[in-house]
Amino acid sequence: MTRTVYVNGEYLPENEATVSIFDRAFLMADGVYEVTSVLGGKLIDFDGHAKRLERSLTELDMPKPEAFDELLDIHRKLVEINEIDEGMVYLQVTRGAAADRDFVFPDPDEVKPTVVLFTQNKPGLADSPAAKKGIKVISIEDVRWGRRDIKTVQLLYPSMGKMMAKKAGADDAWLVEDGFVTEGTSNNAYYIKGNKIVTRALSNDILHGITRAAVLRFAREAQMEVEERNFTIEEAQDADEAFITSASTFVMPVVEIDGKAIGDGTPGSRAARLREIYLDESRKAAI
Ligand code: PDD
Repeated sequence: MTRTVYVNGEYLPENEATVSIFDRAFLMADGVYEVTSVLGGKLIDFDGHAKRLERSLTELDMPKPEAFDELLDIHRKLVEINEIDEGMVYLQVTRGAAADRDFVFPDPDEVKPTVVLFTQNKPGLADSPAAKKGIKVISIEDVRWGRRDIKTVQLLYPSMGKMMAKKAGADDAWLVEDGFVTEGTSNNAYYIKGNKIVTRALSNDILHGITRAAVLRFAREAQMEVEERNFTIEEAQDADEAFITSASTFVMPVVEIDGKAIGDGTPGSRAARLREIYLDESRKAAI
């Protein structure tokens, strides 16, 4: 089945969808994005993603696309047409295609944002074998720009980080700045010691994960203590459990950091329980 995608108001077969070579996302990474997961054919945390998208646009002085209020309908329509039961919807908004390459932003009255959405079919996403086995991470220096709270498409360094992890025989990388973990290449990072979850506090240094907000709320409701503060790789290595969160991995146990096993080197019970709660509650609230 050919995938149907959305580009600037049109639903098209993926091989007929095009964007200008002058699009500022192509030339300058001048674009923002969101990834919303789909479970049982329904959208998880859609409102959170829409709110964060709006914030990203505002922070970059990027015009809100005319289709902004239709985004839920567009997501739903793509999920339906492409028969997605489990997977993701990728959404990207760029500052549009100016007449030429220019560092100066184009006049928003003349150049309209580009809006692209497509689905990614991932059967078995919730029941992922990786969640049963856990993942291995390495630590690398965080050399990204200073506005990681904005979800831009500047993903070269995260991409390089995943490649460094792969080369080292691991699955992903945790980024470290001034001796403290910021987050994973495409996820938020946590450790658990006793009844306490430790994760970096929100600031411009990390993406304000939509999954993070939900998981911390569920953890507090389950009487776990949550400490939002800086932590080191050594602290995490010494923990009982570690995990990451994101829209595409939900809660994913981390069983090794820089070659050192966490706990007994298998996924811990608390992270597994948080994953279960997150999936159950998200399915209930999905739209
Ligand atoms: N990544 N931190 C970074 C740097 C991310 O790129 C992401 C998400 C997160 C988790 O945010 P959320 O829980 O809202 O998905 C944290 C998406 C999934 C991606 O780039 O594919």
